[in-house]
Amino acid sequence: MKSVKEYYDEIGWTKQKGKYVDSLSFTTDKGAKYKLACNERLREMIGSPELLLDVACGASPFNSKAKKQLCIDFSITAINEAKKNRPDGFFVLGDITSLPLKDNCVTDTVSMHTIYHVDKDRQATAIAEIKRVTKNKCFVVYNAGKHAKLVNILTLPLQLWNWSEKRINPNSKRKIYFYAHSYKWLEQFGEIKTYRFLNENGIKLYSKLLWLVSKIEMRLPKHSYHPLLVIDKNK
Ligand SMILES: C[S@@+](CC[C@H](N)C(=O)[O-])C[C@H]1O[C@@H](n2cnc3c(N)ncnc32)[C@H](O)[C@@H]1O
Repeated sequence: MKSVKEYYDEIGWTKQKGKYVDSLSFTTDKGAKYKLACNERLREMIGSPELLLDVACGASPFNSKAKKQLCIDFSITAINEAKKNRPDGFFVLGDITSLPLKDNCVTDTVSMHTIYHVDKDRQATAIAEIKRVTKNKCFVVYNAGKHAKLVNILTLPLQLWNWSEKRINPNSKRKIYFYAHSYKWLEQFGEIKTYRFLNENGIKLYSKLLWLVSKIEMRLPKHSYHPLLVIDKNK
């Protein structure tokens, strides 16, 4: 297995047929409207801070309404692509577990789909780092993985299908390090809300019911496949 940095430098943020390999490997075009609504909800929650830090921004930094956006990632390929996709941003190469920033120097911070790729024993350090450099609020999109029992039960048929496909072709999905801590672990740092209740399998299986999921998912933060950790430093 490649290291996370090697994967993003050499594979994840390269393009195939105009699309990033990472998106082709881990996401589908299904449920675009639902995914957009989840993003929009987070965008509204964040509002328009003076300076938003998007840490582990990847190739496509968060589409925020911030007055200024500082984008950090440890992959040089991510940073080079991010510059093209968000030309008005500011860019720094850096590691989330040791941010090259002073205490309280950004207004708010967002970090999406990353901390679960950090070594399980360093994830708390990553959260402490984003908290240290932030003045007001941090928003962390996590992946509950095996802890999202309800979603996992609801998507069992597709999981079994994917598992059998992987047995036949072990390279059908490229693997990078992943470790999901429990909701309880996450809750020690702040409040848990919902970013997105369903995972990709759920979006495929319940594509006709996404309107209903959108209506109820905010009531199910500790069942969400992608919980949103909100840390308010002024509380
Ligand atoms: C799944 S991508 C998410 C990118 C982006 N936040 C998004 O939601 O599209 C994970 C990103 O985190 C970056 N990353 C992983 N570990 C990191 C670390 N320790 N420090 C900084 N960036 C990291 C990777 O280089 C990659 O760009």
